[in-house]
Amino acid sequence: MFQLNLTQFTQEEFLRDYWQKKPVVIKQGFLNFEDPISPDELAGIACEEQVQSRLIHHADGKWQAEFGPFESYDHLGEENWSLVIQALDNWSEDAAKIIEAFRFIPHWRLDDLMASFATPNGSVGPHMDKYDTFICQGSGNRRWRVGDNGEHKEFSAHTALLHVESFDAIIDEELEAGDILYIPPGFPHEGKSLNNSMSFSVGFRTNSTVSLLSAFADHLIDNDQGNELIVDPNREATQHSGAIDSKDYLLIKNQLQQLLDNDDAFRSFTGCYMTQAKHEMDLVPNEEPFADEDVTEILSQTSLLRLGGLRAFYFTDTVEQGICYINGSQVDFDSSITPVIKLLCDNVCVDSEALEPWKENPAFISFVKAQLDLGYWYFAE
Ligand code: SIN
Ligand code: CO
Repeated sequence: MFQLNLTQFTQEEFLRDYWQKKPVVIKQGFLNFEDPISPDELAGIACEEQVQSRLIHHADGKWQAEFGPFESYDHLGEENWSLVIQALDNWSEDAAKIIEAFRFIPHWRLDDLMASFATPNGSVGPHMDKYDTFICQGSGNRRWRVGDNGEHKEFSAHTALLHVESFDAIIDEELEAGDILYIPPGFPHEGKSLNNSMSFSVGFRTNSTVSLLSAFADHLIDNDQGNELIVDPNREATQHSGAIDSKDYLLIKNQLQQLLDNDDAFRSFTGCYMTQAKHEMDLVPNEEPFADEDVTEILSQTSLLRLGGLRAFYFTDTVEQGICYINGSQVDFDSSITPVIKLLCDNVCVDSEALEPWKENPAFISFVKAQLDLGYWYFAE
């Protein structure tokens, strides 16, 4: 288990003083940090078809980038390159445990766990991100420079690499295993590996208004909602047929506003949207459905684990009514099992002791069976 070792500030002070405000190095944020996955294993994962990965190479000021899956790394030499893998939490249970240290930030804000292996002088180049990132240094060392936010000119160093022009550093530090660099969105940064090194970045992001609105429109279409037309039975004659007067402008604006003000509809959309998988998952649906008695027996012996990358949330306002959201869908359950559903949404792993009061509850057994069948949850070995 990876546990945050905060000595400079508390979680509350971090959120007050740094979160979304300014970058900071958390020295030895993890004590005795060991890579949860080896460079060889990482390289192997990047050979898989479903995994999003990139190789970035630079020499003599020229940047190259290729997208995985990769067949070999033999042509790359000993330095100047790095391998980056998105959504490692979907492919490595051990690496996913790093995310657990950041549960003081609600996980609807989570994007993914990104990992990188870099050889000496390997880097993805100076750039800015749209997300908050906690870069956790694993084995080896990297020198990180971070500039202040503000106007920074971006340019394409390669079709797949958006870089930023040189910047003055407000942070310039060599990180060692267990150090964490937090960078809010919009702060230019560049990490250069000093030797063979690994890093694990936990990224948090929100969605742009336009992507939220567009997804909301898709949700309305899929659910045959939002078909109401404007009605105006009390219209009065106008002298200016070319004008949209202020009353009519409000009528049009309210048409949209009413949809957003319909909390049942908007909450349902938000729950589905926020739980949509961000990256492909390693889904293995259960082939042989479990019998109720088997579920009860296994639950009394072993933990229930959530698949890496699976998103499961509830709204504090509606969970007591028996509503939660899992992997892009609304799931209704008997409200008597609300406490254990909250446990499953709040934690990736729930042990048999916590499940003891629920293991014979028919509503819970049927919930668990449905999730096992989908491959969303599984029993620990
Ligand atoms: C890296 O780990 O090399 C890149 C991480 C980042 O800059 O966001
Ligand atoms: Co970055």
